[in-house]
Amino acid sequence: MSRPGVITCKAAVAWGPGEALVVEEVAVDPPMPEEIRVKVVCTSLCRSDVTQWESKAQPALFPRIFGHEASGIVESVGDGVTEYEVGDHVLTVFVGECMHCKHCVSGKSNMCQKLGLERKGVMHTDQKTRFSIKGRPVYHYCAVSSFSEYTVVHSGCAVKISPASPMDRICLLSCGVAAGIGAAWKVADISKGSTVAIFGLGTVGLSVAQAAKLRGASQIIGVDTNSDKYEKAKAFGVTKVINPGDCDEPVQQVIKRLTDGGADYSFECVGDTGVVSSALQSCCDGWGLTVTLGVPKVKPEVSAHYALLLSGRTLKGSLFGGWKPKSDLPSLVDKYLNKEIQVDGLVTHDLPFSSINEAFNLMKDGKCLRCVIHINK
Ligand SMILES: NC(=O)c1ccc[n+]([C@@H]2O[C@H](COP(=O)([O-])OP(=O)(O)OC[C@H]3O[C@@H](n4cnc5c(N)ncnc54)[C@H](O)[C@@H]3O)[C@@H](O)[C@H]2O)c1
Ligand SMILES: [Zn+2]
Ligand SMILES: [Zn+2]
Repeated sequence: MSRPGVITCKAAVAWGPGEALVVEEVAVDPPMPEEIRVKVVCTSLCRSDVTQWESKAQPALFPRIFGHEASGIVESVGDGVTEYEVGDHVLTVFVGECMHCKHCVSGKSNMCQKLGLERKGVMHTDQKTRFSIKGRPVYHYCAVSSFSEYTVVHSGCAVKISPASPMDRICLLSCGVAAGIGAAWKVADISKGSTVAIFGLGTVGLSVAQAAKLRGASQIIGVDTNSDKYEKAKAFGVTKVINPGDCDEPVQQVIKRLTDGGADYSFECVGDTGVVSSALQSCCDGWGLTVTLGVPKVKPEVSAHYALLLSGRTLKGSLFGGWKPKSDLPSLVDKYLNKEIQVDGLVTHDLPFSSINEAFNLMKDGKCLRCVIHINK
């Protein structure tokens, strides 16, 4: 078989922090050993893309191609890749699974030491990019970069899925929905009859809510500053909504009153370390567990009175809901195909690739849950 060559295709390129993306021609290198090149079919916009795009913390990592919640089709495979064939349908993942490192074999963690969250805008294997414009490197995001007709990912950063899975909906399982469900089921392991408080009712928060409901939680309290989010939240299992702006007292006091001293579990799905503190204060002494999922824009330090921990509360974080992508994601896909978990209701907009900036604006303005971008429309 002839070796794959460079592909020239359209990608949405960010030239600077917060600057509107420009759809233009990029060169995509062939996959290196252990890598695959993927024809992206659909990609949804996650808050993490927006946060990183707005951030001025890494000015050197532009031009850059964002996007990490995606479905696609394998176009070519690099040397040594036996797991995939051209034409396989895949989901990309921003935390990979090499299957061999200490974490991958541990059974306790999805923090793969080889293919963990990539922060430098390059590929894991050689610290280089696979994209360029007129010879100038274009940086990756989370080693996925799905805002492009074609992208290259490590074979450990993708998961094969059934061709029966609808590409325009299943992409949400590549990050946000899986992160929320995993936080509730795998990290917190919510038990029947328990009380749950969720801060942030976006896609991640609502995925926690549906997972809590499926576990038989007795109360699911949702906190959001944007009241437009409440109707959908109720459809996803939230039993009571609170707008902190409407309260005469701190929201944690309200939650404590509603739950006889604090919720069994609280979840931070906003991306604000001040909210992490409120979530910790909202759970109960003795066994209260706060799971933080959000990626903060500013102020990365969390502050908490030590007495909250002495009194038995736990603060825990998770990426991708603690799921190991290759080992765990296929069963979540099956649950979706068997209609045991909902995904479709989280998609509020379907947009063509040329309207990608509209998706960014909708998310910045709090007017969407997930916008799915159809790359070939
Ligand atoms: N840990 C992971 O693996 C993982 C995966 C996906 C997303 N994330 C992060 O999770 C967070 C949520 O993602 P999303 O895609 O659902 O985002 P989103 O923007 O759709 O939802 C966030 C919600 O929080 C609300 N909000 C904002 N400030 C608030 C406040 N002070 N109090 C209460 N609510 C407030 C917003 O109105 C919005 O409804 C983001 O920080 C994102 O980066 C983490
Ligand atoms: Zn994400
Ligand atoms: Zn590993």
